[in-house]
Amino acid sequence: MIIDIITAFPKMFLTPFDESIIKIAKEKNLLKICTHDLRDYSEDKHRKVDDYPYGGGPGMVLKPEPFFRAHKKILVTSHQPPATILLTPQGKPLKQSIVNKLAKEEHLILLCGHYEGVDERVRQELADEEISVGDYVLSGGEIPAMVLVDSITRKLSGVLGSQESLAEESFIEGLLEYPHYTRPAEYKGLNVPDVLLSGNHSEIKKWRKEQSLRRTKEKRPDLINKG
Ligand SMILES: C[S@@+](CC[C@H](N)C(=O)[O-])C[C@H]1O[C@@H](n2cnc3c(N)ncnc32)[C@H](O)[C@@H]1O
Repeated sequence: MIIDIITAFPKMFLTPFDESIIKIAKEKNLLKICTHDLRDYSEDKHRKVDDYPYGGGPGMVLKPEPFFRAHKKILVTSHQPPATILLTPQGKPLKQSIVNKLAKEEHLILLCGHYEGVDERVRQELADEEISVGDYVLSGGEIPAMVLVDSITRKLSGVLGSQESLAEESFIEGLLEYPHYTRPAEYKGLNVPDVLLSGNHSEIKKWRKEQSLRRTKEKRPDLINKG
């Protein structure tokens, strides 16, 4: 998969994409990420990419032209028509089902807003989808883009060592995952449940299913009611 990210703050992506699962996916050539500095597409001599909002009001708005130019340049080198996603608090709330769907795409372009947001014409003309990472407002679309890239990368075939860990994760069957324990078996007077030490796989499976249901009922009853 190829992911192009258009942003006014490309340096924010330096470290997060060079660690852990994303680093592995890149090394295995399963993922290629290119960040595009919006300022490189400004025709202003000071590389300005924002301006005052028409109609007045606080803050600055990211101008349309640099987004359109950067987007056009990416399309020129793209073999498949990519899906373009605008990160915005006004978008569809990100869910595992959306991640699963996006992980099947070959090429994504992510548009990151900043300041008061992006000129509306960017949304109208360039965005195929609008995605929010939750009902709160962040300073920019960069961290939401990282959230999206990370969640998608886990789903790319061949990235995670064990496909079982994906099959049992939270949200996969509409439930939260069961609790995990590792060594030591007793810590600060707290014991690992006996069943997990028993070696009885069917009992372990049953216990995990019960825990998964119990947790979901306690923490996220909305998930149960939905099903
Ligand atoms: C400060 S926000 C702008 C919020 C905008 N004025 C509004 O009220 O809808 C700046 C940028 O951060 C990004 N952003 C902020 N919160 C987000 C969220 N919950 N999900 C996705 N992107 C978000 C968007 O790209 C947005 O254009």
